[in-house]
Amino acid sequence: MRLRNLKNKDELLDNCSYIINDAEKYIGKWNKDVFKNNNPIHIEIGMGKGSFIKNMALSFPDINFVGIEKFDGVVARAINNINDNIPSNLRIIKADANTLNSIFKNEIDVIYLNFSDPWPKKRQIKRRLTSSLFLDVYESLFKNEKTIIMKTDNIGLYAYSLVSLSEYGYIIKEASLDLHNDIDRFNIETEYEKKFSSMGVKINYLKAIKK
Ligand SMILES: C[S@@+](CC[C@H](N)C(=O)[O-])C[C@H]1O[C@@H](n2cnc3c(N)ncnc32)[C@H](O)[C@@H]1O
Repeated sequence: MRLRNLKNKDELLDNCSYIINDAEKYIGKWNKDVFKNNNPIHIEIGMGKGSFIKNMALSFPDINFVGIEKFDGVVARAINNINDNIPSNLRIIKADANTLNSIFKNEIDVIYLNFSDPWPKKRQIKRRLTSSLFLDVYESLFKNEKTIIMKTDNIGLYAYSLVSLSEYGYIIKEASLDLHNDIDRFNIETEYEKKFSSMGVKINYLKAIKK
């Protein structure tokens, strides 16, 4: 995600009450010490400007949400966007997905992967957020049943993910090649989703579960 630099980036990051800077400190204790309730925890990896995670948090007050993003500048954009209406059940973390097993342990119910970078070249496969390297990292994050929900415009990444998740032991419970025409499915759009669907691109969706 390329973004113009925000002039007040540092100020936004320093003064944000819901960013968790020392996230490793809370491993295994997110319910007790961060949210102070026993509600389920859902995370979005690669939240971008944060519209999805913010609107999910506003729509589902009985679920705790954590938005994760690896770039400072993008986190600052998200804070800028979230600040006009901050849900009390939302936190954000600046972290790379490959470090998440030092931040969460047996406490996550759902991972959302929305419009993850497709890394189309063969030599980039390991960087895809549904490669077995990342699925290894996600294993210890989950509480009980493991649920990954993914949306993407990119049919190559989608096909790759269906295979990678299945080979790893996930069952594909739901799949759609045209999410927006599946009228029965509740959907909160992301920034990328809005952009792609306004260009007439169909949105691919999957929900995968592993016991
Ligand atoms: C294409 S954007 C999609 C943003 C948003 N989810 C959406 O749908 O509008 C992908 C985002 O994932 C972030 N990202 C990519 N790899 C990541 C990683 N390994 N860990 C955390 N964030 C990552 C990028 O910085 C970028 O903001």
